[in-house]
Amino acid sequence: MQRRNRFMLLAALALAFAAAAGAEEHAQDAKQVFEKSCASCHGVGGTGDTAAGRAMDAPAFQGPELAGMEPSAICDQVRSIEKHQAMLKKVAAEDLAAACQRVKELASGS
Ligand code: HEC
Repeated sequence: MQRRNRFMLLAALALAFAAAAGAEEHAQDAKQVFEKSCASCHGVGGTGDTAAGRAMDAPAFQGPELAGMEPSAICDQVRSIEKHQAMLKKVAAEDLAAACQRVKELASGS
């Protein structure tokens, strides 16, 4: 019984580590996709303070509205914006989902 419990504990720990590593990797992806596909206008920190962002009037990602939205709803909004249409042709749906997750993080201040 003792040995079995120890095995269960080890298995649970291994799973927890795997999950944490997976989440970390995912966060990296979101940041990378955002920096590759969105930061030219929105800036790495999402403030919109880039030459293209200022020229096009890109808003800063901040405040409770974006922070409180599901990433999928943020993506719907992104797809509806006229000024995104050229960018959307170059970004895979999966990458867009990751970038929307990053928008939510930036709007929440993280
Ligand atoms: C070519 C410049 C450009 C690129 C690249 C770009 N955006 Fe935008 N984005 C804009 C502009 C300009 C607006 C404001 C549009 C408007 O108000 O009509 C905007 C608005 C938004 C909004 C709405 C913000 C709000 O407060 O309502 C979101 C969310 C957004 N962009 C996300 C993204 C994401 C995610 C990417 C990358 C996958 C991206 N954008 C790439 C120019 C860009």
